[in-house]
Amino acid sequence: AFTPRVFSGIKPSGGLTLGNYLGAIKRFVGMQGGEFETIYCVVDMHAITVWQSPEDLRHATREVAAGYLAAGIDPDKSILFNQSRVSAHAELGWLFNCVARVGWMNRMTQFKDKAGKNAENVSLGLYAYPSLMAADILLYHATHVPVGEDQKQHVELTRDIANKFNHDYKVDFFPETVPVIEGPAMRVMNLRDGTKKMSKSGESDMERINMTDDADTISKKFKKSRTDPDVLPETMDGLSERPEARNLVNIYAALADTTGEAVLSEFGGEGWGKFKPALADLAVDKLAPISTEMKRLMADPAEIDRIMAKGAEKANEIAQPILAKTFDIMGF
Ligand code: ADP
Ligand code: NA
Repeated sequence: AFTPRVFSGIKPSGGLTLGNYLGAIKRFVGMQGGEFETIYCVVDMHAITVWQSPEDLRHATREVAAGYLAAGIDPDKSILFNQSRVSAHAELGWLFNCVARVGWMNRMTQFKDKAGKNAENVSLGLYAYPSLMAADILLYHATHVPVGEDQKQHVELTRDIANKFNHDYKVDFFPETVPVIEGPAMRVMNLRDGTKKMSKSGESDMERINMTDDADTISKKFKKSRTDPDVLPETMDGLSERPEARNLVNIYAALADTTGEAVLSEFGGEGWGKFKPALADLAVDKLAPISTEMKRLMADPAEIDRIMAKGAEKANEIAQPILAKTFDIMGF
């Protein structure tokens, strides 16, 4: 039996969004100090699958660390570290490149979306990304991976790699990791059309809420967010054809730690003139303190680096023996 252990990560490929907060970080905080050992990573080696200038990478890496800390990841309760500081990730990633099949990679929808028509000219790393992600997870024998819906396919691929490795080498060494995708924020959409995922690299700043936005900006963005003219329905079924409205109700529910149904039992029958200011106030209430704390932390990068270096030592203590055993199993 494997120790109940959570691993998850965030790429420092731009500023953190409300999607990262509600779909990932807030849930990571909720899993701390309970039945799981929790390991959270700034996956900097994933960020460079698309071009990052060295200054941007350095800044974004510290910003993701600050986001974790400001939102409540406690380095005494969780292992928090940068991926590149634990070289076993790259080593196991290579071993898994030799386990995973090209056909499996060809099925990854995120690669198809990101590469688009340019598939011949993207980095080889972007293509192999899910294999490194499997290494991130399995290097700790993680049993559970909290992620947004967009990462479901990659966690399933992680299971395929673990199963093939166990089968090929006739061992029961890597666990079948379970993706944990739940709650109203598993897929936060942008504020423009409600049909595209809110993303760090989204087109316009008005379409996303950044974790570093100040109170006025958060409030303004929600008040200007696009909606239809109808009043809110009494149940979530009434939102099936109304993606912008559904997105805002789900965001409200996630911020308030409740369900969409509960939000509609309060706001059903009301118009946007009542709901949007309430959402803006709630969001400011929950997010502005985190944004303020992130800025305080970012003003002292040496302190962030010190915390992350300590986390890397702890991560290495788990990772090194698992990598060594993997090499041994494979005949190195
Ligand atoms: P991004 O997609 O913003 O570049 P990452 O790929 O680093 O972010 O993902 C970090 C975590 O945040 C993952 O668990 C991912 O599923 C989650 N996540 C990212 N965007 C969203 C979103 N819009 N809604 C819910 N979860 C999200
Ligand atoms: Na993502």
